[in-house]
Amino acid sequence: MESEYLIFLKELKTSFLQIGSLVPSSPFLAKAMVLPLKGHVAPVRILEVGPGTGPITKAILREMKDEDELIICEVNSRLMSRLKARLIADPYFQKHMQRISFLEASIQEIYTESLADKVDVIVSSLPFTNFTPSELRATIDVFEKLLKTDGKVTFFEYLGIRKISTILSNRRNRDRLRAVDSVIKQWQEVVVREGQVRTKLSFLNFPPALTVQMYY
Ligand SMILES: C[S@@+](CC[C@H](N)C(=O)[O-])C[C@H]1O[C@@H](n2cnc3c(N)ncnc32)[C@H](O)[C@@H]1O
Repeated sequence: MESEYLIFLKELKTSFLQIGSLVPSSPFLAKAMVLPLKGHVAPVRILEVGPGTGPITKAILREMKDEDELIICEVNSRLMSRLKARLIADPYFQKHMQRISFLEASIQEIYTESLADKVDVIVSSLPFTNFTPSELRATIDVFEKLLKTDGKVTFFEYLGIRKISTILSNRRNRDRLRAVDSVIKQWQEVVVREGQVRTKLSFLNFPPALTVQMYY
């Protein structure tokens, strides 16, 4: 079986902006990403967006209880087929496979009436920093349509990534990065009004990352 790192590296050549990282997430970051699932009351419906080679998928599987459901959404078809091949050997995947489904699509395309208000937890690895402000707003909009009223979202961002990129970018990209930053800040302000936003630093990841957990 091809190593997780090799699969990732091969995809970077053609899809760098879509992937948005150099290596798969560490088990430490994966653990922080599933904090909203710790000790949850089953059944819940979980949506993972952007699983890549599956480090966070594996952490989700370990938190899943009988009757929980997992929907895995990945836009890159090669990564999706590698992920399926890797998961088949995972005993936690085997335990829950009847309640796991795969959506090979962009998250912006998957909003369907059948899933509206039906998702309890969204675990997103999407590279928000590479999005345009309007793509990011559209994505948050989809998340909020899918989520139940007391739903949760976790996502991660590399520490200081937008500040560093802003310094190194041309003016057009700087403006985009500032606009992305303000969309994320506004999103958090809205959630804080009625719910809670928690963060956790994961230094044991390359690069170090901040996980953000939004409790609506
Ligand atoms: C930063 S990588 C994270 C991969 C993996 N979760 C990890 O932590 O190592 C981002 C992933 O999001 C996927 N992705 C990017 N845009 C997407 C979109 N609009 N819809 C679904 N998946 C997307 C990429 O193909 C890639 O697998």
